[in-house]
Amino acid sequence: MTPQNIPARVLDFAATCRVSLEKYELDTACQRITHALRKRLVDRAFLNDCFTTEDWEGRKIIYKDEQFGFCICAHINNDHKEAPPHNHGETWAIYGQAAGHTEMSEWEQTEHAGIVRKIKAYTMGPGDAQLYPQGAIHSPIRRLPGKLVRVEGQDLDTVEQDSFTPE
Ligand SMILES: [Fe+2]
Repeated sequence: MTPQNIPARVLDFAATCRVSLEKYELDTACQRITHALRKRLVDRAFLNDCFTTEDWEGRKIIYKDEQFGFCICAHINNDHKEAPPHNHGETWAIYGQAAGHTEMSEWEQTEHAGIVRKIKAYTMGPGDAQLYPQGAIHSPIRRLPGKLVRVEGQDLDTVEQDSFTPE
């Protein structure tokens, strides 16, 4: 993907992410990116730039940063979809809900390896964004069609993720 065919508002958001990662330590940078994403999730023009056409499904990388490695991804989800409790291995991710809802749970490791206990449950709606730092265990359920803009610390297709079993 060349910068020429990345939509302007996606490039602008990417620049905001880059500035945060350049200027701040990772936790603060991620908080700032989460805040910036929330504002854009209610910007119709930004969402149009992210989803350009609607005739696809799944995950699309719409920007990948050469220097930091983070990715901005658009997701279109047309079916019921659930993931088991998992983390994103070595990296972080910020989930932004653009349309529809996600029932999200967060989990903590128990004394038994690979077994986790639920510590939080909430529903994300349009305009909500949530940061999952490195190692944070979470599980989304999407019952109806929806759209997400997700910022991945690294391309998650290349990151080994851990899955866990609820107690
Ligand atoms: Fe995840």
